[in-house]
This record gives sequence, structure tokens and C-alpha cells, in this order.
Amino acid sequence: MTNPEEGPTLQLGPDGPQIWPMGIGTRFWGYGDEEADLNRRAAFDVALAAGVTLFDTAEIYAFGKSERLLGSFMQDHGSSAVIMTKYAPFPWRFGRKGIVTALRRSLERLGLKQVHLYMIHWPYTLTSIETLVEGLADAVDAGLTKAVGVSNFNPSQMQRAHDFLAARGIPLATNQVAFSLLKRDPETNGLLDLCRQLNVTLVAYGPLATGLLTGKYTPEHPSSGFLGLRNRKSDMIRLQPLIRLMREIGEGHGGKTVGQVALNWTIAKGALPIPGAKNARQAEDNIGALGWSLTDEEVAGLDAAAQID
Ligand SMILES: NC(=O)c1ccc[n+]([C@@H]2O[C@H](COP(=O)([O-])OP(=O)(O)OC[C@H]3O[C@@H](n4cnc5c(N)ncnc54)[C@H](OP(=O)(O)O)[C@@H]3O)[C@@H](O)[C@H]2O)c1
Repeated sequence: MTNPEEGPTLQLGPDGPQIWPMGIGTRFWGYGDEEADLNRRAAFDVALAAGVTLFDTAEIYAFGKSERLLGSFMQDHGSSAVIMTKYAPFPWRFGRKGIVTALRRSLERLGLKQVHLYMIHWPYTLTSIETLVEGLADAVDAGLTKAVGVSNFNPSQMQRAHDFLAARGIPLATNQVAFSLLKRDPETNGLLDLCRQLNVTLVAYGPLATGLLTGKYTPEHPSSGFLGLRNRKSDMIRLQPLIRLMREIGEGHGGKTVGQVALNWTIAKGALPIPGAKNARQAEDNIGALGWSLTDEEVAGLDAAAQID
């Protein structure tokens, strides 16, 4: 759990709120039955009770239902969380005007007048990066979002977005990319360094490698479902020394779980992880990654053990 004496330490965007360096991912919210929705609601409540107020969503998650659920949870709870959501630049969506229109629809689903952060979900489309971020700037000017970000942008794409926004006097607050002990590209392709240089927060999605980095899967008990495709027995065997080290390190910190070590590692690297949580137990476990820190030696040891290719 979070340590209230330590307090939230990260500012999201220039005039943004102070938050804990973690958000809750809601990619899988909105699928399933009523019981599934109740479980997501419990995750929402646990996060807010612990002071973790940031939630990541997107217009495409469960075809808008992730945003709708967040909207209804906020209304029931009587508090507005810190929401970041995303514009999907499908090839058939031309120009910049559609970005403000799409954000208005997201706001309707969320029951809000303004989000804290609006992002371009990915850069691969027929529309230029400049046109996409111009749409983001329009959304700021219209008062529909406090801050703006991008997602899945490589260093040169992020630099272009940053420079173009800077010319309009708007800082680029975030770049949301895949980053975990098993997905180290931001460290090797210069993105993490560029984020530090440009004062852009690197938001780490998939920080638990969709559950692989919680240690719950083993060669004897691999995951079923779509994860199974990249969860072959040989991969699971190669993963075990890393998981053993994570468990050992977690025990040395008073019984932290493997997943908490995975999330704390992303924070140690200067990123803001947004682990997906499907229920209260997962949210509580993930929030246990806050309020303590891996040592530099432990981070170096994990770096080395994660080179398993
Ligand atoms: N910008 C983008 O393109 C992009 C892409 C992907 C994701 N995202 C965002 O990033 C968020 C996180 O990524 P992700 O959900 O793909 O992957 P993740 O955070 O690495 O893994 C989340 C999954 O791991 C399992 N899990 C979570 N906490 C656990 C715990 N404490 N113990 C055991 N299992 C646990 C849950 O699945 P099971 O219960 O089924 O095992 C959960 O759905 C998403 O929700 C979304 O908001 C953004």
C-alpha cells in the first residue's frame, strides 16, 4: 500500500495534479458479464482508497465501454479520477478536426467536461504527425484536455511531436509505450533518454508483460488463452531464473511480490507504469509496488537477469 507520509511525487503535465508514479490500466474493462464489471469497480475503489487516482483508457477499449464504466464508477464514487484517454487514428479518419470530435465523444462516455490527458494512440496512419498533434493542440485550446501526449511514438516521431507542440506553446507531457523487464526497447533505442531530456513522462504499458512478470505462470502451469501463443514451455523455462531473482529480491524487501518487483523496476527507470488490474486483489497487489525502492545493485542484477534472448 502507499505510504501517505511519502505522498504523491509525480506531476502529470505542466499544471497537472500530483500523483503516485502509477496508474491503473483499463484495456480489459468492459468485456464480460456483470460480475466482471463489479470486479473492475472493486479495483477502481481499491485504487482510489490507496490514493492511486490515475486511470488509463482509450476510446477503442471494449468499443467505448471502458470509458463508460470509468464514467459510471466516478459518478457512483462521487469523485473524479485523473483520466487519460486516447484518439485512435484509423486510416479512414483524415485531418485534425475529427480529434476534437472524438474527444467530445470520450468525454460524454466518461461524464466529464475535461480529461487530464489526451493522447494519439499510435503514429501509423496516413495523416502526418504534425496534423495529429495539431488536433491535440486544438483540444487544449477548446479546454477539453489539460495536457497532451502520444503513444507508441519512436524517438524521432516523439521529437517531431514535441517540437511542433512547442511551437504552439504546448508541452508534450507523455509518451506511452511498451516497457517492462521483458520489453527493454525504450532503454536501447534512446527513447527513455530523450524523454528525460525533453521532460516527457514515459508511461509504461504492459509492465507485467500481461501477467508473465507476476510469476504466476510456470513451465508446468503456462497460461491458457491468447497469452499461450507466446508462452511456450521453452520460453517459460528460460524465464524462471529471472522470476527466482525477482522473488528473492522481493523477499528482501519484506515480502514484496514478483509483480511488485517488476513494477518497482519500471519506476526505478524513471517510468510511470500503468498495470492492468481486473479486480481488487490485482489492484491491491500492484499498488504494493509503491512506497519502497529497489537498490541500484538490485536494478542492475535484474537488468542482467532479464537478458534471456
Ligand atoms: N498505448 C497502447 O498502445 C497500449 C497497449 C496495451 C496496453 N495499454 C495500457 O496499458 C495497460 C496495461 O497493459 P496490459 O494490461 O496490456 O498488460 P500488463 O499491465 O502487463 O498486464 C495486465 C494483466 O496481468 C494480469 N495481472 C495484473 N495484475 C496482476 C497481479 N497483481 N497478479 C497477477 N496477475 C495480474 C491481469 O490479467 P489476467 O488476470 O488475465 O492474468 C491483467 O489484465 C492496459 O490496461 C492499457 O491501459 C496501452
